[in-house]
Amino acid sequence: MNGPGRHHADDGTEQPMIRLDGVSKRYPDGTVAVHELTLDVQRGELVVLVGPSGCGKTTTMKMVNRLVEPSGGRIFVDGTDVTHADHVRLRRGIGYVIQNVGLFPHRSIAENVAVVPELSGWPKARRRERARELLALVGLDPDTYARRYPHELSGGQRQRVGVARALAADPPVLLMDEPFSAVDPVVRSQLQDEFLRLQEDVRKTILFVTHDIEEAVRLGDRIAVFAQGGRLEQFDTPAAVLGSPATPFVSDFVGFDRGLKRLSVTPVTRADLEYPPLVKVSDSLRSAATAMNTSRWAVVQDESGGLAGWIGREMCDADGVVGDQARRMEAWVALDDSLKVAFAEMLQWNAGWIAVLDHDDRYLGVLTPSTLHAALRRSVEAESRSIPPSEVDLVTVSDA
Ligand SMILES: Nc1ncnc2c1ncn2[C@@H]1O[C@H](COP(=O)(O)OP(=O)(O)O)[C@@H](O)[C@H]1O
Ligand SMILES: [Mg+2]
Repeated sequence: MNGPGRHHADDGTEQPMIRLDGVSKRYPDGTVAVHELTLDVQRGELVVLVGPSGCGKTTTMKMVNRLVEPSGGRIFVDGTDVTHADHVRLRRGIGYVIQNVGLFPHRSIAENVAVVPELSGWPKARRRERARELLALVGLDPDTYARRYPHELSGGQRQRVGVARALAADPPVLLMDEPFSAVDPVVRSQLQDEFLRLQEDVRKTILFVTHDIEEAVRLGDRIAVFAQGGRLEQFDTPAAVLGSPATPFVSDFVGFDRGLKRLSVTPVTRADLEYPPLVKVSDSLRSAATAMNTSRWAVVQDESGGLAGWIGREMCDADGVVGDQARRMEAWVALDDSLKVAFAEMLQWNAGWIAVLDHDDRYLGVLTPSTLHAALRRSVEAESRSIPPSEVDLVTVSDA
């Protein structure tokens, strides 16, 4: 079941948008920051580099836009070897978002957003229009914010401006280095949600850096786990990284070893579920497309509330009803099944999510790798504090 969810299998026919081929970086003082790294990012894919501080994530990212020159190996962006590309042109084709944004304090928000269009010689009216459009896209009302200055915004709002600025010239590739790490957990969680919605719209190829495994699991189509010295320990979907860590380092880093022991004794509960758009077999494809809104897929229910399957938004560009196009769903679990069963199903079907049914086979919601992870953390926390899992507050992952 590769269709639904954000986690796609690569069909192998397209060349990757970003390709690192045996890339190394040794700084002049002898520090090896990255060691023979090979990794690719498909068009429209969001790959998260995650690992502890100092493991070479920022160095890797800066080699892609050549703020740092590799000591060995080759890097391709859209098929072109960037080690020979013109720096300035290369960087204009790659949006870059960093932790403390680096807005110009004496320029208005609109001017900050339009920096790259300005450098590219766009006329003033077009820059202004573009800035307003982008502010709206990242959830900042242009009438309110366009004329303000950076110090008049909250930390979360400044991060949104940073994202808007990176998108200004509509670059196919975005590099994001810990963009949400400086804000508090609640705002971070909101920014992550908004960012996922935005990505559904813009479908950029994104390399995203974080030291936070929760954030990685939540955002990534695939996750690259790094150890010190820029060694790639595992590069796979969130479910695979969490469910079958490739090395002791990974299992330790994802903090899942304790959790794994609890998988088989922790049931799936209603509190763990997410709710993607829901359509009925008899709905017209047109109305299904509307109901899906920004989501790329929906769950399909039969008339009695049972699970009929799923449908992708691109499957709705036709006349007829949902039932004509819907795909069967092979993977599902029942409420109160163990998380271990849910995990096993998810891995077996290589699914980005799995449906949960009640005891009368009615559809309730879905589990995703991030909600599974949250459920496990809740269970581990609850045990260590001797309270019921439902009383554990997790701000970073569960409040989707
Ligand atoms: N300009 C530099 N000169 C020397 N060593 C550096 C430089 N930049 C980073 N490093 C070292 O390279 C390693 C990786 O750093 P970095 O890529 O910033 O890691 P991360 O982003 O994962 O925290 C660290 O040991 C760091 O101290
Ligand atoms: Mg860094």
